Amino acid sequence: MALHFLLSSVFIFFAISVSPTLSSNSEVNALHALRARLTDHTNVLQSWDPTLVNPCTWFHVTCDSNNRVIRLDLGNSNISGTLGPELGGLQHLQYLELYMNKFEGKIPKELGNLKNLVSMDLYDNNFEGEIPKSFATLKSLKFLRLNNNRLTGSIPRELSALSNLKILDVSNNDLCGTVPIDGPFGSFPIESFENNSRLNGPELQGLVSYDFGC
Ligand SMILES: *[C@@H]1O[C@H](CO)[C@@H](O)[C@H](O)[C@H]1NC(C)=O
Ligand SMILES: *[C@@H]1O[C@H](CO)[C@@H](O)[C@H](O)[C@H]1NC(C)=O
Repeated sequence: MALHFLLSSVFIFFAISVSPTLSSNSEVNALHALRARLTDHTNVLQSWDPTLVNPCTWFHVTCDSNNRVIRLDLGNSNISGTLGPELGGLQHLQYLELYMNKFEGKIPKELGNLKNLVSMDLYDNNFEGEIPKSFATLKSLKFLRLNNNRLTGSIPRELSALSNLKILDVSNNDLCGTVPIDGPFGSFPIESFENNSRLNGPELQGLVSYDFGC
């Protein structure tokens, strides 16, 4: 029993001391799972060799000096398919660039696990469903562009906690309710919200939020 414990400890210590040279399993799994959900009409993902343990050599994937995945650049790549919860495993990701494709389905709430995310660009796709409230935990987020999709529901009030958010664009969707006024919402231009036929103007100061038409 004690020996077994000791051996496990030694193994765990060894695994931890070796791991910085390789991307974590959750990162590799996340990218494999992403690829499995996609249809890659023009072979953009050809270099994503499923037999390689290290994705840092793949095109459109960028790693830092510790081989941790920090960017996924698949904008304008003629890709269709859905996103799954596994994407939340890219725990060091800073840039998630999936704009101008044909992604569909819901935006996984697990993207709220990407604590280091600086930029999330999902614009010009066919995403539907609601903007996840879990995005409120993305404290490093500066750019959030979800425009030109089919998103419904209200803009989560929780997003007003994103004090670093500089750019928000949710125009050209089917959102409803009222636009929050707190935090970064004080500085977003009206264009960020246009063409959401059931979205009302900023909520009145002091008025408890009524989600008109939601
Ligand atoms: C995108 O994929 C479609 C479907 O396979 C193909 O017909 C089209 O030529 C591709 N477009 C570009 C810009 O590669
Ligand atoms: C409004 O948004 C919808 C949904 O994205 C889009 O289909 C439509 O073309 C947009 N209308 C205008 C005038 O931009």
